[in-house]
Amino acid sequence: MDESLDILRLLVAEGVRTVVATPHIYPGKFDNEPDALRYRFDALEAARAAIGLAVSLELGAEHWLDASLVGRIAARRVLSFGPERYVLFETSTGPDIPASLYDAVHALSDAGFTPLLAHVERYAYLRKESGEEVMADLRAAGARFQVNRTVGELNLPGHGVRGRFLARLLERGWVDEVGSDLHRPTARGRPHAIPRSGAAGFHQTTRKPTDPSP
Ligand SMILES: [Fe+2]
Repeated sequence: MDESLDILRLLVAEGVRTVVATPHIYPGKFDNEPDALRYRFDALEAARAAIGLAVSLELGAEHWLDASLVGRIAARRVLSFGPERYVLFETSTGPDIPASLYDAVHALSDAGFTPLLAHVERYAYLRKESGEEVMADLRAAGARFQVNRTVGELNLPGHGVRGRFLARLLERGWVDEVGSDLHRPTARGRPHAIPRSGAAGFHQTTRKPTDPSP
């Protein structure tokens, strides 16, 4: 609870007025269920009100895509947020299209949700050349894309693997939402952010302007 309130204070200090909390629902790793998360969320909302912190809270989740997700969607064991009724979900990051990706997107659309694919910059299966068509198919099926705020810190648009990918997404108007990637109540609490000390990571992932395009 203390950590959650500290996170809210940090975000309010950055000018944030609404926070959508997206705890993991990841069978076998983070065995959360909507009811239990709602219970914790209500306690957080009460604590927030008690200290008069001016921020509105909404509960979502980050759902892990595995073979069980389609059944979970059919049983309404998912948490959606926003007027779009977004259901945020993440997948494995390797070069192969995850087995139930399209099934999950169709199941969500059919159930009246908007599938929101989390941190799309991380997926090798979307960044490679054939990913373009996959993304077009996903969007045609109703999916929308979220990127993490940290992608711009790691790779400026147009630079590095993720940055070049981000530039392509921006060009097509395919960045629908941006997530904070904030996991801890510190400035360093964004696990995929550039380390504050030592800019080596930045230089490693950024091409010099004189480099020829690959
Ligand atoms: Fe994630």
